[in-house]
Amino acid sequence: MAGRVAGNPFKGRDVISITDFTRGDLELLFIEADNIESRAKSKPLEGKVVALAFFEPSTRTRLSFETAVKRLGGSTLLISGEEAISVAKGENLADTITMLDSYADAIVIRHRYEGAALYAAEVAEKPVINGGDGRQHHPTQAMLDLYTVYRLFGSVDGLTYGVLGDLRYGRAASSFILGLTLFKPRHIYLVSPPQLRARREVLEVLEELGIPYTEVEKLQDVLGELDVLYVTRIQKERIPDPREYESLKGSYRVTLDLLESSAKETLKVLHPLPRVDEIDFSVDNSKYQAYFLQARLGVKVRMALLSLVMGG
Ligand code: CP
Repeated sequence: MAGRVAGNPFKGRDVISITDFTRGDLELLFIEADNIESRAKSKPLEGKVVALAFFEPSTRTRLSFETAVKRLGGSTLLISGEEAISVAKGENLADTITMLDSYADAIVIRHRYEGAALYAAEVAEKPVINGGDGRQHHPTQAMLDLYTVYRLFGSVDGLTYGVLGDLRYGRAASSFILGLTLFKPRHIYLVSPPQLRARREVLEVLEELGIPYTEVEKLQDVLGELDVLYVTRIQKERIPDPREYESLKGSYRVTLDLLESSAKETLKVLHPLPRVDEIDFSVDNSKYQAYFLQARLGVKVRMALLSLVMGG
């Protein structure tokens, strides 16, 4: 497991959960992200190799990490699915990670099992970055989500947030809520169908830290109060019973009409993507839409993170 070095709190470190970090750590990351284009000119990852071990599908996380490594002067090794590697012949995760640890200088892993990234970090000596483990954590998504809010509003503090959708199985939503606990949100509304409420362990963190929150079922009841609306899709692939997914499908939908009739003029809509049908395309060209900016900023934030974890 990679440890912590004084001075730069990210240097050589594993990135498993957003709650492993402090507000100060994230503020340092934001400053690094603000300045990363000029820092990239010195190619801080030159000669370094990053293994991208994606055992689950990904567009943004994998490709933005790959872009980030290349813009910093490094190179990548890619695992995309289990079919093309010796896992298909029965090799276990520990042996696969041990191999990657000997070939690369850092490992980014996405896996369907909760705890897989932590396990990989225990096996590997090089830094391990969690690119999403089951329904549990997606720390770099939370970092870029919080950075997007900071870029849009100048601060993460003092805002009223709505987190809408699948708060039970969605790792991006849980990580965003946990990330907000490092700051001072005015209020967090957790908006979901009853079957998809936030998990107990997430609510316990909010309660322990005295973060004001309310669970509600209907977006319309709170939309007018929100500064940020964070929307997530229903995680079809993680719902055990397909009949449950069918009963929940389409149960919430953000449209331009709804936003124009009830939201603040300054509301910003975020979404970790991919989207299915929970945000109508009519929102895409409106002043509310911030999810494409959010995805774009993912490259800067992942460049900043890699530069801090692996750079000089
Ligand atoms: N937000 C996110 O994790 O997207 P991908 O699944 O495309 O990586």
